[in-house]
Amino acid sequence: NPHKPQMERSCNLETANCRAKGGAPGFKVAILGAAGGIGQPLSLLMKMNPLVSVLHLYDVANTPGVTSDISHMDTSAVVRGFLGPQQLENALTGMDLVIIPAGVPRKPGMTRDDLFNINAGIVKTLCEGIAKSCPKAIVNIISNPVNSTVPIAAEVFKKSGTYDPRRLLGVTMLDVVRANTFVAEVLGLDPREVDVPVVGGHAGVTILPLLSQMKPPCSFTSEETTYLTSRIQNGGTEVVEAKAGAGSATLSMAYAAVKFADACLRGLRGDADVIKCAFVPSVVTELPFFASKVRLGRNGIEEIYPLGLLNEFERVGLEMAKKELAGSIEKGISFAMK
Ligand code: NAD
Ligand code: LMR
Repeated sequence: NPHKPQMERSCNLETANCRAKGGAPGFKVAILGAAGGIGQPLSLLMKMNPLVSVLHLYDVANTPGVTSDISHMDTSAVVRGFLGPQQLENALTGMDLVIIPAGVPRKPGMTRDDLFNINAGIVKTLCEGIAKSCPKAIVNIISNPVNSTVPIAAEVFKKSGTYDPRRLLGVTMLDVVRANTFVAEVLGLDPREVDVPVVGGHAGVTILPLLSQMKPPCSFTSEETTYLTSRIQNGGTEVVEAKAGAGSATLSMAYAAVKFADACLRGLRGDADVIKCAFVPSVVTELPFFASKVRLGRNGIEEIYPLGLLNEFERVGLEMAKKELAGSIEKGISFAMK
């Protein structure tokens, strides 16, 4: 660094996090797609996370600017930028957690599955890089359609002999964040005190909020249940329409992604009782992937919880969710096996 004055300095080496002592304690995190609509606020929020010691920002465009900008924040994580496929290996080497928000977003009128043709290939290539350079990392997949991109990632890891189902998680946290917000609004509660499990997948009817299992326990009229379920299932479309062609949820998604990544890091650190919903390799239903509550620990997913008692409305919803999910999972698997 040419700007660093070359002089004797005194530094209080007792200060726990002094970089002169060998770097702040914490985890190494890479964000792939870091210069995008989600990537930028996600990078900003991860730079603020005290559990992160090194933050690698990778994209195929604009990473130098985003990296320079974020690196000026006076938090302890060291930020490095990586641009283009030639730098993917360096971006990934040594990472504990890799978060993938790379890929195109929806425009009004599109389904998440309409993104498959472009995003499937992007996720496949990035996961091949992970298999090669950081096969033990926890992987958080945000790129849509999550119901297919997670199965694609699993196939890529299987093919390369590095697959550990405990380390692969599709991010459905935004569905939980929305459910908490909308339910709190209806009940007149503080959203921070509300926790609604959302299971199934991350598209339309596959998004299945379990209002009967929310905390604190509350009851709803059938009109409220129908309204809330539909609003949660269509939350993504609500934002896509409001943005009118300028993309999909980015800010609330970055917030949700950081909530989820922080839980993964707390799990890696060994914290007890870190439980979040995610779309994961699963035996909770007959499908090979399903979103439900999982406990996160030192190896990633330590435990997957069964769905618990469902009411009649939720049982009907579950059958619809499974039917659509089966096709999306199969589509991802066949793509990756080609
Ligand atoms: P965006 O277009 O603003 O950003 C995407 C970024 O990915 C861009 O910077 C682009 O350069 C980069 N990119 C493209 N190909 C790449 C590659 N091969 N390697 C690395 N980077 C690459 O889009 P966005 O709004 O940030 O959304 C990204 C994805 O996240 C979309 O697929 C969107 O549908 C999805 N999404 C998922 C959720 C969820 O809940 N899981 C929520 C919101 C959005
Ligand atoms: C969301 O739920 O906001 C994302 O999956 C983006 C989208 O396309 O709706």
